[in-house]
Amino acid sequence: TIEEKEELNKLVRSVEDFPEKGVIFRDITTALKDKKGLEIIIKDFTDRYKNKGIDYVVGADARGFIFGAAIAYNIGAGFVPARKPGKLPAEVESVEYSLEYGKNSIEIHKDAFEKNSKILIVDDLLATGGTAEAMVKLVEKLGAKVYELAFMIELVDLKARDLLKGYKVYTQLKY
Ligand code: PRP
Repeated sequence: TIEEKEELNKLVRSVEDFPEKGVIFRDITTALKDKKGLEIIIKDFTDRYKNKGIDYVVGADARGFIFGAAIAYNIGAGFVPARKPGKLPAEVESVEYSLEYGKNSIEIHKDAFEKNSKILIVDDLLATGGTAEAMVKLVEKLGAKVYELAFMIELVDLKARDLLKGYKVYTQLKY
């Protein structure tokens, strides 16, 4: 509901000049530690994605894991982590991307899901969209299909939706 979104909005802490001067960091830890806040976040995602035939939820390292596993459990899907380089032990598929602050790559196990699986991509924050675009590429490299991308927070000015044109994007809070 709108009331719940307003309540959630108040629980996000804005920290000025982090990690560098001029940046306002949206800190979700204050919303996560609040039991009503956590409930609002997970229930909203669960209501949206239950009974949609989603096979796997893919969460982005590291904060995407917090929401991803909870959503997957609630909707009866499996959870697959997309990890920072060198963390996954078996054969991986890898995609490089540029971040709001720097460059990185993200990896997923090659046998993470079957071809044509229906995938929900989850992360805490949509900033430039670089991470999200890399996640989409990983999923498609494995022959699976992106059902939608879901984020708790969207930084609207960075225009990530342009980068993700053609894909459905859902965000709970916009800044
Ligand atoms: C942050 C955030 C997203 C990404 C968003 O992760 O959790 O994954 O940046 O930025 P983008 O839209 O510009 O790609 P970070 O790489 O800082 O990793 P962390 O979750 O391990 O802190």
